[in-house]
Amino acid sequence: MASHYLPSMFNALVSVAITIGLHWYHYGPESRQESPVGVTTSQLVQTCLGLVLYQLVRLVTQKWWTSRERESIYGLQHGRLHLHVPTAMWMNMGYWKNDPTPTTKMSEACCNLLKTVLAEAGCSKEMEKPGATNGTRRRKCLIDLGFGCGDQTVYLMSKEPIRSCDKDWWDEEAHAVTFDHYIGITKDAVQARYASERVEELKRCRKQAAPPPPPGIQEQPHPSITLFCADAAKPPSWDPQLQTCIQSARDQSDDCWVLALDTAYHFEPSRWPLVYHVCSSLDASFMAFDLCLSPTATLTEKLFLRILTLLLGAPWPNFVTPQAYREKLMQAGYHADKITIVDISDRVFMPLATFLAAQDRRLKTLGLGIGSLGIARSMFGWWGRSGVVRGVVVVAKK
Ligand SMILES: C[S@@+](CC[C@H](N)C(=O)[O-])C[C@H]1O[C@@H](n2cnc3c(N)ncnc32)[C@H](O)[C@@H]1O
Repeated sequence: MASHYLPSMFNALVSVAITIGLHWYHYGPESRQESPVGVTTSQLVQTCLGLVLYQLVRLVTQKWWTSRERESIYGLQHGRLHLHVPTAMWMNMGYWKNDPTPTTKMSEACCNLLKTVLAEAGCSKEMEKPGATNGTRRRKCLIDLGFGCGDQTVYLMSKEPIRSCDKDWWDEEAHAVTFDHYIGITKDAVQARYASERVEELKRCRKQAAPPPPPGIQEQPHPSITLFCADAAKPPSWDPQLQTCIQSARDQSDDCWVLALDTAYHFEPSRWPLVYHVCSSLDASFMAFDLCLSPTATLTEKLFLRILTLLLGAPWPNFVTPQAYREKLMQAGYHADKITIVDISDRVFMPLATFLAAQDRRLKTLGLGIGSLGIARSMFGWWGRSGVVRGVVVVAKK
């Protein structure tokens, strides 16, 4: 502590001043011969100033050293050196089978949300078995809107995990049906680039895993994967390359699915033009995890939510009740019997808010934190407690 050194510093300064004063009084400023130590007063002043400076430097360094000792020069920040990168890059609200514990992984919950949507749509591996064994398998294409950073693409299109971090969320048992063509569309250029690298890795792994066919036998083509950076909400803005790719995949498939995993509520001006396009122009089925407005939301809740959706980048026309969502799907051309909307809010918002709070605490021990996602944590907590926003799995089949 600095105050600990102040009295001794003060005493030293006073002693030095008295010594110089007495020397100057008796011998004058330049009387080297008379001075008992053989130095002039100005030499004595210089020496004493040097001593004072030395004391000051000692004081400052000791103060710095004690404060460092208190804070510790190491602390816990080096924990960052043990974090693994690359890491999972899933980014949806997740389906939390159980309330989060310290060992629960976000990536697992995210992958479970995709599996929940696929299962509801009848697109899980189990459902495809009969057709695969009796030779009546139907060829399928998937148009994946807002596919994220590539983990979703890897799960849907790879037979095995590609990176070691994929093993955290990989699930052999409940794998998806085989899609013969995959077309991903995202608006985010950075995510599109990141995901493209993942797809390149996947293609390299496929090549290494498949031995070359014996001479004279034609190699079986792998399912195609193509990623595009475009606004999924505005089909008329899709460039000719994307349109041709979709058309060609559509022509080579018996069934076409459009997936919007935790994405369509972002669509501007609303998701409805896209839904019309999927049903009429693509003649495709639609599956999504999406958000709805509770039919019991109060006026105050709606007002507050409306402001919040501005920050969330989610246009207000997307917030309709599950019943109104169903009616919109029917207006687009889907038959009422082929539409299911399942409310899974209880397994989404509150557990997600709990996980985010715990993760923030864990990261703070390393001097990190969840940053701006803290606002999202409060929002999900509100949705979970009030029920004002509903998380739904939507399936509309052709
Ligand atoms: C919550 S994230 C979900 C990402 C991914 N589906 C997952 O589960 O990890 C929403 C994604 O939708 C994308 N997105 C938002 N609006 C879009 C639009 N109009 N067209 C295409 N993608 C969009 C964002 O870039 C973001 O990657």
